[in-house]
Amino acid sequence: MTDEIYLTGITTTGTPHIGNYVGAIRPSVAASKDALKKNFYFLADFHALAKNEDPDKISQSTLEIAAAWLALGMDTDNSVFYRQSDIPEIPELTWILTSMTAKGLMNRAHSYKAAVQANLDSGGDKDPDKGITMALYSYPILMAADILMFRATKVPVGRDQKQHVEMARDIAQRFNHHFGDVLVLPEPVIGDDTAVLAGLDGRKMSKSYNNTIALFAPEKKLRKLIMKIKTNSLEPGEPKDIADSTLYDIFKAFATPEETTAIEKQYEDGIAWGAMKQVLFEYINDHIGPAREEYERLIANPADVEAELLKGATRAREVAVPYIEQIRHAIGIRKLG
Ligand code: TRP
Repeated sequence: MTDEIYLTGITTTGTPHIGNYVGAIRPSVAASKDALKKNFYFLADFHALAKNEDPDKISQSTLEIAAAWLALGMDTDNSVFYRQSDIPEIPELTWILTSMTAKGLMNRAHSYKAAVQANLDSGGDKDPDKGITMALYSYPILMAADILMFRATKVPVGRDQKQHVEMARDIAQRFNHHFGDVLVLPEPVIGDDTAVLAGLDGRKMSKSYNNTIALFAPEKKLRKLIMKIKTNSLEPGEPKDIADSTLYDIFKAFATPEETTAIEKQYEDGIAWGAMKQVLFEYINDHIGPAREEYERLIANPADVEAELLKGATRAREVAVPYIEQIRHAIGIRKLG
């Protein structure tokens, strides 16, 4: 057992897509089974609020994401799988950290700066903070609380979240400077870029581009989506380049190295795009078929998902409850007698 504690959060917006699967779910599920690792995985539903989603969408997304992770084999005995909003110590720690966070640090957050820039770019004499909530502004503090609450040392995230983890570290450092060695300094672990999949239009697969392939789309729909993936206009029989081929990239993300080599040969031999789409559809469909059945069962039985999350919350709070007591004591929120 290493002393490292791994922790990562998934914002509950949208339906899990195959880009999420390859980039986050698959590696996390594999790590969740590693008896040598201590892992915390949670659904960041308070973070979803900052994105102004409607209530039914947040709740549906929470169910779909939890069901997807469970259906794909997340080991909830070896790792701790929970929902952020079930841990009241997290918002409590958020406030404590808020009193320790320089406003200037939040001014520098990329996500906040991007929102301000978008306002400025839209011209006129608009308020640069138009439409920006305090939740968006202090998002990195909530994220710091998520991380620091469980003494996480390693935080696997996408490149876009690296700065947030570094901010968590800065906040913890400042806290410790004032109150002693209470918080553990985390560091980001950035997944490699090959784990980023392109979507239907060839850009990065992302909900914001509306170019995703839902991981558990029903078979017919999956087929339809794969048939829509952008290709060039080379005819059947003409040799094709694997570079810049979204179909190839997605196939490679699912298949074994041997199967990938065999497909490379077919590209050289001029496989028709229609045929390649059929190959890809069948591959993904076979690969995720069994998990899809379990996913559909869980979606139809949300109480089973709820029970898993509550089990995780109980385990998470075994850490959070005594630790927040220690943190309260350090800052002077103490019993008087
Ligand atoms: N902000 C992260 C994202 O959008 C999700 C997240 C919330 C997270 N809290 C976290 C990730 C804590 C790692 C650690 O992807």
